[in-house]
Amino acid sequence: MQWQEKMQEIAARVRENDDFVVIHHYDADGCSSGAILYKALEREGKKVQKMWIKQLYKETIPEIKGKGKNYVFVDFGSGQLGYLKEEFGDNLYVFDHHQKTNVEHMNHFSPFDYGINGGNEISASGVAYLFAKTLNEKNIDLVPLALVGAVGDVQDFHGKLVGMNAEIVKEGKENGFIKVENDLRLYGRVTRPLTSFLMFSSSPVLPELTANEENCKKFLQELGIELKRGGVWRTYNDLSDEEKKKLTSALIVHLASHNVPEWKIKDLIGEVYSFPRENPKSPVSDAKEYSTLLNACGRHGHADIGVEVCMGDRAEKYMEAMSLMQEHRRQLRQGIEWVIQTGVDEKEQFYYFDSGERIKESIVGIVAGMLYGSGAIEDNKPIIAVAVNEDGSLKISGRATKDLLDKGINLGKAFKEICNELGEGNEGGGHAIAAGLKLETKNKEIFFEKLNEKFKQQTST
Ligand code: C5P
Ligand code: C5P
Repeated sequence: MQWQEKMQEIAARVRENDDFVVIHHYDADGCSSGAILYKALEREGKKVQKMWIKQLYKETIPEIKGKGKNYVFVDFGSGQLGYLKEEFGDNLYVFDHHQKTNVEHMNHFSPFDYGINGGNEISASGVAYLFAKTLNEKNIDLVPLALVGAVGDVQDFHGKLVGMNAEIVKEGKENGFIKVENDLRLYGRVTRPLTSFLMFSSSPVLPELTANEENCKKFLQELGIELKRGGVWRTYNDLSDEEKKKLTSALIVHLASHNVPEWKIKDLIGEVYSFPRENPKSPVSDAKEYSTLLNACGRHGHADIGVEVCMGDRAEKYMEAMSLMQEHRRQLRQGIEWVIQTGVDEKEQFYYFDSGERIKESIVGIVAGMLYGSGAIEDNKPIIAVAVNEDGSLKISGRATKDLLDKGINLGKAFKEICNELGEGNEGGGHAIAAGLKLETKNKEIFFEKLNEKFKQQTST
């Protein structure tokens, strides 16, 4: 069966039913995919409620059950299909892109069933978007959200979106919803004043510029680029095409003269996605900044605000989201500084750090991922972060690089296998490149031992 047929079949069952609860994940991909499905069902005239959760665990089910008649899980569910099926039977719908188990269900859509890699070719928001379009072609206006989720899940790690994501980009572009440019991929093109744009670059670190305000100012001034115009700080997006080219070339020369590896320099340039129907000064006009805005909401307890922004709020909720973003950036900076100061430990097969309660469990994975660009660790091994969940259990987040995936590393698979071996109370999974799990405190050392073994096996076959 082709994916389109499966979507049609699920859509037919959705049309026959009513009273839906959309349960979505709390990060950028979760908020955007939740908003897409909520809106699409509402447009079909369905009664629909929404609910976000931090992570789907077996013990979360009682909180969900009884809220409605039909349950739509998005951005999780593939890994938990066994118990979801038992709990919800035919009233279950799952739209996900995480790694699967061998359980099947008529309303479970997984891209992996159709040869589409859920790790880098489509995100949950992409799956939700394809479904929304299957329900009604008019839902094409939701296409920006499909990209926000994909970019939020760092699926553009090849320097651009690929596979089904690239098809979605093409559709969005042809219909005037998306602008695609080949440009500098540093974060903060729309909202960061130029000096901060360079100074806060962590991926990659810019030698002598990152964390050095004076040098950044000098660098820009020597290029003849004005930092302010009409009393207002200029951003990268405010620059003329000529100035953009000048800055980009100067950065390339700067990195090369500081012996930054060629692949890192190449990574600096790639596809960037923006949304011409939004205010060009707002973070929601740029896919990367939009996704950070949503992560700032969700990962700090306010995914509902993120969803309102996705559904079009540009007033009260949007302002709340903007202040959450300041706080999110502050916490990320503080987290990275703490890890760099304290240092990272290593086992044979991976780097690790235990932040205790210093870094929130909801952002510790992002901090771990940002360490690759920071110079604190090499790119030769995965990085594993430990934090503490609200219930006192441990939260483990893992991040890898695309090169490590090529060598056989699959974090989600390793985490899932170890959880199965450790039994109840330990639950997790995710993607090859980014995964997480909840672990009983007593299992920390055994987890590390098992993980070392799994990585050894994965890279030796
Ligand atoms: O649940 P989900 O698939 O949406 O989450 C994946 C998470 O992994 C994203 O929130 C993203 O921040 C993170 N990620 C990362 N680095 C990667 C890939 C994903 O930090 N290379
Ligand atoms: O929380 P974090 O950003 O590290 O999550 C990375 C990936 O691992 C996400 O895709 C998330 O859905 C998944 N994860 C999971 N089970 C957990 C924690 C995270 O499947 N207990």
